[in-house]
Amino acid sequence: MLFPSQPDRSFSFPPFPVDLRFGAGIAADLGTLARSLGARRAFLVTDPGVVMAGLTPRLSEPLSASGVEVEVFDEVRQDSGSQLIMRGAAEARRFDADLVVGLGGGSALDSAKAIAAMATNGGSILDYVGLNKLPADPLPSICVPTTSGTGSEVSIWSVLTDDDTGMKVSAGGQRFMATVALCDPDLTLTLPPAVTAATGMDALAHASECYVNRACQPVSGALALQSIAFAGRSLRKAVHDGADRAARCDMMLASVLAGIAMNPTRLGLAHALAMPLGSWNLKIPHGTIIALTLPSVMAFNVEAAPERYAAVAQALGADTRGMPPLEAARLSVEMVARLKDDLGLPRGLGECGMNEDWVERIVAEAMKSGNVAVNPRETSPAQLAEVLRASI
Ligand SMILES: [Fe+2]
Repeated sequence: MLFPSQPDRSFSFPPFPVDLRFGAGIAADLGTLARSLGARRAFLVTDPGVVMAGLTPRLSEPLSASGVEVEVFDEVRQDSGSQLIMRGAAEARRFDADLVVGLGGGSALDSAKAIAAMATNGGSILDYVGLNKLPADPLPSICVPTTSGTGSEVSIWSVLTDDDTGMKVSAGGQRFMATVALCDPDLTLTLPPAVTAATGMDALAHASECYVNRACQPVSGALALQSIAFAGRSLRKAVHDGADRAARCDMMLASVLAGIAMNPTRLGLAHALAMPLGSWNLKIPHGTIIALTLPSVMAFNVEAAPERYAAVAQALGADTRGMPPLEAARLSVEMVARLKDDLGLPRGLGECGMNEDWVERIVAEAMKSGNVAVNPRETSPAQLAEVLRASI
């Protein structure tokens, strides 16, 4: 399926300055890579789960073997708070770090990029919420994902929690991109099925929300469709047999390609809803929110962009030959809903603490998101509330 012809529409694709390295086992090259960046003192940002999983030595050992001194900062929590970012930046400065290494899922990598930024910039990370607000270059950073979903290692975004309001916010721009993305799918082999499922659905949502949205262009479209195909081929396999190296490789590719695709496009309603649903004392994990809202978002959108959703169905592996576009498009909604059900995820947001009392507040915040403006179907607050209710 080709991206639709748009002879009267021009587009640009922003510079992609991240040095992308991909391959099973390449985490072992980290020391050489760090030295090639001139690093002598690496500040390794991660979370306690990654430490418990025994992954930290996979990075600290090659660094030490190359003569790079390492300090581990393992205080990252889900959607790290602004105070934690500032404490991490102070620790990195005290250690006199010349490199920040992020190891983990989205929260760890987003925190590493924010700490690298705040190690060289004054004020608070909250001063730089929004796009392109960071005045000075960050410390060099190497992001090493241990999940396949976030795309943070190649994205312009760093998501965190504003400790003053409890709201999730994001700071973005070229200066929030990693210097190097070191993508080693072997680091995901021990990721538990539930996390594999939720983060994998996040990668699929990055690709599909990007592909159908109004800001998508042929370059993002090509990356997004390929990402959907990798997820369609391998997400079930990666969840049901975590040791399947080919499936783990596919899922990391799905995550990386979607992460690059979405940089200039933003996403859609699932990601608009995700910021408030991950905020306050709800704090539902991002991948879970996305997995549980994506089917109802797609059902709402499908008639506004049938050709695009038909391409999503085809990329997911459906034989849509001879099908009218709207029928093929509706098939994509069914396929994603079935995929979600097959992965052992919660049935709805109600199982995660969400209820009717939250709807108005969530919708009010979500409507402020730039992701609503690019969604393929124009969306009123009342319509978004219905999409949200359908996900409870
Ligand atoms: Fe996401």
